[in-house]
Amino acid sequence: MGEDELIEKVKGVLSPERLAHTLGVVQTARKLSARYGSDPEKAVTAALLHDIAREHDRNTLLQMVRNFGIIIDEVSAAQTELLHQLVGAELAGRDFGITDPAILNAIRVHTTGSVQMSLLDKIIYLADFIEPGRDFPGVESIRQKAWENLDEGLFAATVNTLKHLLEKGRLIHASTVALYNELQLSKSCQE
Ligand SMILES: [Fe+2]
Ligand SMILES: [Fe+2]
Repeated sequence: MGEDELIEKVKGVLSPERLAHTLGVVQTARKLSARYGSDPEKAVTAALLHDIAREHDRNTLLQMVRNFGIIIDEVSAAQTELLHQLVGAELAGRDFGITDPAILNAIRVHTTGSVQMSLLDKIIYLADFIEPGRDFPGVESIRQKAWENLDEGLFAATVNTLKHLLEKGRLIHASTVALYNELQLSKSCQE
């Protein structure tokens, strides 16, 4: 499926607001992949599909989790917005014919992050965070870091996420903590 065909199909499953966000992620992912030498086609595909499960309500997502046989942990089960990355990767395969594990994984970890993220995983996670439609305190500084050094951008985004979750008294997924520790350890090794 070509990019235009994918966009048309994605339009069918996203609200206008989510589509605008998704196109922002595509634009940013394309730029980041040019900046860091990643395959632009894969970045665009992953960006286009990253939120295809986002419009489903909690019950539908949980039903899909069961139907796809996805094993979920307690935190993902309790936090609805953590389910769409897992279901989204399955829908990308089933409904959009994506078989490339690199693209599917970038969708699967785009909200929580994970340890040992690939270049593509990092680009999608960050593009989702800093696309032009994003407007939250600190986004400008994360944008700047993301263009200067991908891991610095990733670290800043992860710290921002952790702070936000703590402030809101929300659950924190183990993968996000593991990503933070991994990045913090590699920073202290460089010092
Ligand atoms: Fe998402
Ligand atoms: Fe998103």
